[in-house]
Amino acid sequence: MSEPSPERGSGSTARAIAGTGSYVGKPPAIVRDTLMHISVTYGDALKQSTPLLALGAWEDEPLPGTVASLLEASDWNGAFKRTLVLYPRGALPARRLLLVGLGKRQAITSDRLREAAAVAAQRARELKVERYLFDLPISEGVAFAESAQALVEGSLLGLYRFREYKTDLGPEDQHEIAALTVISSVQDERIAQGASIGEAVARGVILARDLANGPGNAITPTRLGEVAESIGQRLGMRVTVFGPAELRQHGFGGLLGVAQGSSQPPRFIVIEYGASPASPNSLPTICLVGKGITFDSGGISIKPAEHMDAMKMDMSGAAAVIGTMQAIGELKLPLRVVGLIGATENMPSGTAYKPGDILKTLSGKTVEVINTDAEGRIVLADALFYAQRYQPAGIIDLATLTGAISVALGPHAIGAMSNDDSLAQRIAQAGEASGERVWRLPLWDPYREMVKSDVADVKNSAGRPGGAITAAAFLANFVGNYPWVHLDIAGTAWTDKPTKAYTPTGATGVGVRLLVQALRTWADGL
Ligand code: BES
Ligand code: MN
Ligand code: ZN
Repeated sequence: MSEPSPERGSGSTARAIAGTGSYVGKPPAIVRDTLMHISVTYGDALKQSTPLLALGAWEDEPLPGTVASLLEASDWNGAFKRTLVLYPRGALPARRLLLVGLGKRQAITSDRLREAAAVAAQRARELKVERYLFDLPISEGVAFAESAQALVEGSLLGLYRFREYKTDLGPEDQHEIAALTVISSVQDERIAQGASIGEAVARGVILARDLANGPGNAITPTRLGEVAESIGQRLGMRVTVFGPAELRQHGFGGLLGVAQGSSQPPRFIVIEYGASPASPNSLPTICLVGKGITFDSGGISIKPAEHMDAMKMDMSGAAAVIGTMQAIGELKLPLRVVGLIGATENMPSGTAYKPGDILKTLSGKTVEVINTDAEGRIVLADALFYAQRYQPAGIIDLATLTGAISVALGPHAIGAMSNDDSLAQRIAQAGEASGERVWRLPLWDPYREMVKSDVADVKNSAGRPGGAITAAAFLANFVGNYPWVHLDIAGTAWTDKPTKAYTPTGATGVGVRLLVQALRTWADGL
């Protein structure tokens, strides 16, 4: 048999195998195996022989004598995130000394430590060292474990680069640091524990960033399912992936409706950590629900061309869920956690869902489609309803749901809307502790009135006023009476102008730090 020529073939030659996306060749691996190695040791930092010793310095406080003798006092005041490289030339066993400004001692927080660590790591990489030591700053403001965790998170996250698709890296760009050792003058096992928590969290964030930075033609719904499966296999979690046939069988009319316009088959992904509805035990179950739109064109209600490319990150909620599941699996948290992801593209085509269509969701409730660009809430409707089968102690959904949340809060806070004060407070506290801050907006009855439809049970858009809240009010119809918090991460999932030293341009991986913190304290409180 002869091969059909591309020009005269059936027309399907350019089309990839269903689900794999159009990226030609093997897309880069998703799970990295080359992160900087982290270790912890105890001792006097100034006595260590190392290519580079990073030393945090408090603003306007004297440096140790040997260090002070290496510089002009007027050149250094310890201002936050300032750095200075010194060459001790035998005055200390370290070949290089990197001073990192910590700012005022009274102002220290774990997030400032995270930033200082990121700045130091970036500087160390510029200096092309193979390894370095970081002297753990000890202060009354931040406990040992939190300090070590923040230091490790900041270092790993600050070094993050997404270059998997570049084929011509210059020699300048090739250097990676092999190892970081956190050294502490105080010997306390909580420091090593904090460091290993930080490492698991950072790995989860990096996974989430890689997924959200990955292009839509490689990170398809199918690929998301495969990534979940491979993580589940490695960490002993049960992963179930529904394709179109199962979705039809079960009645996922929301997810299928949105997926109608795409040639990529949708997926519903279930990741069960220590939990299945069939094997109850005494631990509470928490459901994490992620919006997984692998590309959001807007569909028939198509978006403007400008910045549409950024809509490859519309699966950042799903990425945060996958990153968090990996982290809690590595940390072996004593909890039952279920990750649920509705994954599809939102595309315009002759088969696409249309404004005016009415969809019957998994819950049985009907949705009038006002705007096909309000697709996330329709997909979440099915996923949230599915969560109810676990009789969860809490449902937490993460979604790049509305442009309105970024108008309201900008890039500095995740928007939260909840039907449960105690869950909302738990998440807000985790926000403070993790540095991924959360701000709650109201979800009063009049907002719920706004999403009622004349012809169906609810409508998927109530226009611009209160857009972030009406989106949440729509979702509230699908969670039953279970405690639930909706986290709108549309303003925080992506950065063009980095706001923190540990968050380079592109996907931020937001949500992983927050969720791991919330789940760890949840487990601690049991
Ligand atoms: N994915 C978008 C929201 C978004 C906007 C995420 C900017 C990240 C950055 C979402 O699906 C969407 O299009 N929402 C619409 C809803 C509207 C049509 C009711 C919006 O916010 O404009
Ligand atoms: Mn949209
Ligand atoms: Zn979207």
